[in-house]
Amino acid sequence: SEQALQAQFDERIDADGRIEPREWMPEAYRKTLVRQISQHAHSEIVGMLPEGNWISRAPSLKRKAILIAKVQDEGGHGLYLYSAAETLGTSRDQMLDALHTGKAKYSSIFNYPTLNWADVGVVGWLVDGAAIMNQIPLCRCSYGPYARAMVRVCKEESFHQRQGYEALLVMMQGTAEQKAMVQDAVNRWWWKCLAMFGPPDADSSNSAQGMRWGIKRISNDDLRQKFVDATVPQAKVLGVTLPDPDLKWNEERQAHDYGQIDWDEFWATVNGNGPCNKERLGARVKAWADGAWVREAAVAHAQKQQARQLK
Ligand code: ACO
Repeated sequence: SEQALQAQFDERIDADGRIEPREWMPEAYRKTLVRQISQHAHSEIVGMLPEGNWISRAPSLKRKAILIAKVQDEGGHGLYLYSAAETLGTSRDQMLDALHTGKAKYSSIFNYPTLNWADVGVVGWLVDGAAIMNQIPLCRCSYGPYARAMVRVCKEESFHQRQGYEALLVMMQGTAEQKAMVQDAVNRWWWKCLAMFGPPDADSSNSAQGMRWGIKRISNDDLRQKFVDATVPQAKVLGVTLPDPDLKWNEERQAHDYGQIDWDEFWATVNGNGPCNKERLGARVKAWADGAWVREAAVAHAQKQQARQLK
């Protein structure tokens, strides 16, 4: 009976076990996983755009090769994640349709522009650094396919973070102008990266249930704090200032205090009114439309193969 299945599911969750695709699960669990995994997949795909913007203008062959590899990795992450979501009974077409019609969310962070080469380094260091902080606990998510996808994603994100940090280290040994570019990029991205972790715990509508189900393991605010504490010493080594006058070590808490995040700006961006939302969505819709002939050709080829087999 439904009740027995629910009890079995609860027991597995309480024991920190994994739930696999063909097993019984509550509809709300399925729904929240489709929501989170598809948003995550869209974030990876849309996240290719701000950096892809710099592939043709990378300052050397080495930087270009690294950046191409990184942007391709993000595309790969999107594909594993769409596949993980498909195991829950949704189709890729449905998910993409939700993205293209503006119904689906994707990470706020990708709605800001990458203005110069230093932004590429800062996106690697801070944006991918924040992404890793958020994704490492997802390797222990209760839904098997999502947790397993996260293992490889995190390894690749770690490379992305390092290449960004290393690119910035090189710039910081350069001219005064290069150093100023790095500082300017840090100033523009820092607060947006803190907001990436999502609203404060008290305003996080999905958190309590997500934690109960073992989907989320660490809360938005706790991850944000871990990110701040990990990043402060890295900024020191790099030689940049994090743009927050309230940022300081709190001996009692054994953690850094930090200033107020602009949540109005965050929600405006999440709700479609950030600086690049229209451009990003437009680019995705155009890519989908431009790829129609490839999809049609693939279907025609499959039909031809099938017809040949039937002969
Ligand atoms: N950008 C856009 N929307 C966000 C963001 C953000 N940075 N943070 C929270 N939200 C949305 C949530 O999706 C939710 O909206 P919904 O109910 O319509 O889905 C709403 O704000 C309230 O937030 P929460 O209740 O805290 O939502 P949730 O419990 O899902 O936590 C979080 C949000 C932390 C982003 C979670 O979904 C998660 O861990 N996702 C997987 C990681 C991910 O998507 N990373 C993408 C960026 S990293 C990268 O791609 C390189």
